[in-house]
Order: sequence, then structure tokens, then C-alpha cells
Amino acid sequence: MPMSTPTRYDVCIIGTGRVGLPLGLSLIDAGLDVVGVDRDPAIRRTVNAGEMPFAEPGYDALINARRLMVHDGPAVAADSAAIVITVGTPLRNHIESDLRQIDAVLDGLAPHLRAGQLVCLRSTVAPRTTRYVAKRLAALTGLRIGDELRLAFCPERIAEGRARTELRTLPQIVGADDPASAEAAEALFAHLAPEVLPTDTVSAELVKLFNNIARYVHFAVANQFALIADTFGANIHAIRRLANHRYPRDGIAPPGLTAGTCLRKDFGMVNEWSPHPDLLLAAWKMNEYVPAFLVQHLEQRLPLEGRTVAVLGYSFKRDSDDVRDSLVPKLVRYIERCVPAEVRVSDHNLPDPLPAPAGEPARPNFAFEAAVRDADAVFVAVNHSLYPTFVRRLPALAPAAWIVDLWDVGGTEQTFYRSADLRPTTHE
Ligand SMILES: NC(=O)c1ccc[n+]([C@@H]2O[C@H](COP(=O)([O-])OP(=O)(O)OC[C@H]3O[C@@H](n4cnc5c(N)ncnc54)[C@H](O)[C@@H]3O)[C@@H](O)[C@H]2O)c1
Repeated sequence: MPMSTPTRYDVCIIGTGRVGLPLGLSLIDAGLDVVGVDRDPAIRRTVNAGEMPFAEPGYDALINARRLMVHDGPAVAADSAAIVITVGTPLRNHIESDLRQIDAVLDGLAPHLRAGQLVCLRSTVAPRTTRYVAKRLAALTGLRIGDELRLAFCPERIAEGRARTELRTLPQIVGADDPASAEAAEALFAHLAPEVLPTDTVSAELVKLFNNIARYVHFAVANQFALIADTFGANIHAIRRLANHRYPRDGIAPPGLTAGTCLRKDFGMVNEWSPHPDLLLAAWKMNEYVPAFLVQHLEQRLPLEGRTVAVLGYSFKRDSDDVRDSLVPKLVRYIERCVPAEVRVSDHNLPDPLPAPAGEPARPNFAFEAAVRDADAVFVAVNHSLYPTFVRRLPALAPAAWIVDLWDVGGTEQTFYRSADLRPTTHE
């Protein structure tokens, strides 16, 4: 039996980003003592000053209380009963998950681990990654996994923007390959969730991937339907409305720009281990083609060379300040290949200049009115909840514009239409 040493903290979260920070705060809310570790000085500064470094509603009071202090190195993990790893796991440029952040955590953490502690991997990973982590930790620490060091995979399944509610309502999947690890991880997550569902590590890894991939494919089908409807000169929004109306099975999702840091990469984590082309690769191609479809099909109506183009929205999803893996920068690049006179991007949820992907120039963030005034074309790239109201001002602000609105925020039930087709607000 491992010796159990008293610890100062119940949980140490390594990686206090969009997943780790809400989790840490919700665990504090559930009555646990939590400490954080993050290598990013800006995150540490902001959190330790009692502020959220990104938008995630519902955490203001908890962060203001400054009960979660974030350290720069993993030594503090020695003082914690459980360690939860929530660092990033992007795809490399190849079909290969990038484990560099996890490897760096394991190397830094190993000298501070001892028998009796629980390590939970919560980053989204390819199947069998937890078994790789088990071997690495055993090699680095000399501890036996299960008997001495407990190890589990407990996936995060929240949607950004809904963490506060979903962390307390979603069932928690707990994957472990030995009884001691299972017992320790189930006890930890029972503090948070109404229900804890135990399984083995590979099944838990697949649950997370399948949850995300199912959504990604669901949206790819919606986008494929939008293209098919367009081929036949039919209206996808009207078809979808008719198809879903009081029909009890499998609602058709709305078409749109589908990507984001979670959805886009997870198909790659499954494909990494398979030689065959599959449905998931086809879904990837479908979703990635949508920006090109929008630009090509607008150009059949209005060649963009020398025109002024506005793009509304830049984040990867509605009402978010997260631009990671957003398809809008790709849409903007395709618009620029048409050599317009000017492209003005506007997103009221983001700072000015807009956050730039590595190696890309920073773009100014125009206010809505400045972006669309007298534009020849307006792309509604994200379905932010304010946009139905904003878009109704287009007949006054950009009376001659073509609108590209795959999300149908204008309510015209058309993807390509003229500003004059919108019902204007009365005060314009
Ligand atoms: N964002 C989501 O909605 C979401 C939902 C479910 C699952 N996930 C998964 O959760 C994981 C984390 O995603 P995220 O969106 O929170 O990423 P993030 O980039 O917002 O957060 C990761 C944090 O880890 C820190 N970090 C990286 N390496 C470190 C190290 N060696 N030591 C200390 N800190 C380190 C980074 O500075 C960053 O603050 C990913 O695997 C992601 O796929 C994300």
C-alpha cells in the first residue's frame, strides 16, 4: 500500500486555459482546495489578479475571490493529492497529434510525484495515449501505476461558454485501467458531477473523440446538403425548415463554417492509427471547402476584384472570443485572392487588432458600421447573436451590397442575396 502524506491542496490543475481554469474554479465552488500551474505569464498575471483571461460566463465571483493561484512551475504538485493535466493537444501539420505539451508536463512533473497521488489526463488525446502516459510516468518516476501512482483519463466534454453549468450537470466519464486508479478518479469527479461513468482508458478516450466527431460529421452533412441544394438552384434554409418541421427523427443541422480547436482536430486523432480513407476525412474535406464555396459562388454574382468587402465575425463560433482554428481567416484569405480594393473585418467580441495566427499579419478590427458602410459585399461569417439586429441595418448602410449569409442570420432563407432583400429596422 502506498504511504499517504497529508497534502495542502486537493487538486493541482496543470494548464489553466479554457478547460483548466473553469474546471479549477468549479472544483473550488464544489468545496475543494485547488492550485494551478501555467507556463503562460499573461494567464498567471490575469488569474492571480482575480480576472478571467478569456470570456467564460458565470465565473466572475469565483475568480474575483482569488482562491485559485497559478504558479509557473509544477513543484506545487508535490503538495496536491490529485494532479489534472489540461494542456493543449493540437494536431501537427501531418495527421499526427502533437504531444509536446503533455511530454513537457510529464518531464517537469515527474520529480514531484510520489506514491498515493492521482494523475488525471483531461486533454483530448488519441486512443492509447493514456497508456503511453502510464509507461512514461513509470519510467520517469520508478513508481508502479495502479499500486503506487494512480492514473486516469477523464475527458472534458464542455462547450466553451457553457462550462459553469455543464461541469456540474454533464456526467463525468472516468477511464482507468486498474481498480485503485478508478476509485481515486471516481471519488474526485463525484465532487463535481451528478453522475460518474467508469470505463477503461481507451474507451474513455474514444467517448470524447466520438462525441466531437459525431458533431463534426453532423455539420458536414448539413454543409453537403447546402451544396446539393445550391446545385439544384434550391434553398437549403427553406428545405431544412420543411424537413425538420414536426419530424421526430434526426434533425438536419444548419449549414455554416464548422471548425474550432476541438472539432477540427479530433478526426485526425482517430485517423492517425488507420490506413484507410474514411467518412471522417470526407467530413473534414466538406467542412474545409465551405469558405471556398462561399467566395466562388459570390463571384458568379459579383466579381470581387477592386470591390470593398466586409466580413462580420472572426471567432470560431457564435458569441465566442476564441479564434483558434476558426475558418474565418481562411475565408478572408480566399476573398483576398480575388484582389478586392479592401477587406474590412469586424467582430465585437474581439480586441483591435484582431488576434493573429502565428506568422500572419495582425488585422484591424473595424466597428460594425465602419466595416459595412458602402461595402459592395458583406460576408456574415459567424452567427453571433447580435447579428440579426446588425444585419437589418445593411439596407441603410450598404444599400448596394451582396450579402453572403450561410447562417441565415438575415432571415431571408437565402445564402446569397441583396441588401435590399432585407427587412430594414425602422429607425434607419
Ligand atoms: N476549449 C474547449 O472547449 C475544450 C473542450 C474540451 C476539451 N478540450 C481539450 O482540452 C485541452 C486544453 O484545451 P484548452 O482549450 O484549454 O487549451 P488552452 O490553450 O486554452 O489551455 C492550455 C493551457 O496549458 C498551458 N500549458 C501548456 N503547456 C504547459 C506546461 N508544460 N506547463 C504548464 N502549462 C502549460 C498553456 O499556457 C495554456 O494556458 C485540449 O486537449 C483540448 O482539445 C478543450
